[in-house]
Amino acid sequence: MKTKLIFATNNQHKVDEIRPVIGEAFEIITLQEAGIDIDIPEPHETLDANATEKSRTIHALTRQNCFSEDTGLEVVALNGEPGVKSARYAGGEVRDFQENINKLLQNLKGKTSRQARFRTVISLILDEKEYFFEGICDGQISEVQMGTGGFGYDPVFRPTGASGSFAEMSIEEKNRYSHRQKAVTQLIQFLAAYKI
Ligand code: IMP
Repeated sequence: MKTKLIFATNNQHKVDEIRPVIGEAFEIITLQEAGIDIDIPEPHETLDANATEKSRTIHALTRQNCFSEDTGLEVVALNGEPGVKSARYAGGEVRDFQENINKLLQNLKGKTSRQARFRTVISLILDEKEYFFEGICDGQISEVQMGTGGFGYDPVFRPTGASGSFAEMSIEEKNRYSHRQKAVTQLIQFLAAYKI
């Protein structure tokens, strides 16, 4: 029998990226499938603390095994911004991907370095214990947007070694480079060893 893991996110893109790679022994349950309709808070100053907040919130509600992830885009020339504030970089309560990209490109005008990285932290609560996993994808912020796929900052992020942006890739291609995929790989390896 598969072990069920609730994925504490309302972002369907993230579910679509992780579901195909989670492996045979585990089944991912979305918040919607678990009958949970809440906007999980992300009030903290670090990715770890936000990831913990999300998984603990869902665990408190369900008492079930679950995991969450929090991701930030860290730009060297902006001293690591937008970082933990990536979702609401442009300000306001609404998460507007295009507004966030506009602000990022504006803030990078005239900067010589466009070096950046995505960093994902996963918090897993399994059998009442919490475990963390991290994944990093280095790359560059492009001058203009490229592609229409993906979400968030995908149209302006070109991972190191790739010829195009995340938004120009299929999910399979993105998963070859992506921060989230790297963190998920750690999660999967941990889960595979845990089941033995
Ligand atoms: P979250 O708080 O983990 O949902 O992520 C914060 C923000 O980072 C999102 O709203 C997106 O703008 C951005 N983000 C997270 N992951 C990705 C990604 O894989 N590609 C592009 N942007 C992302």
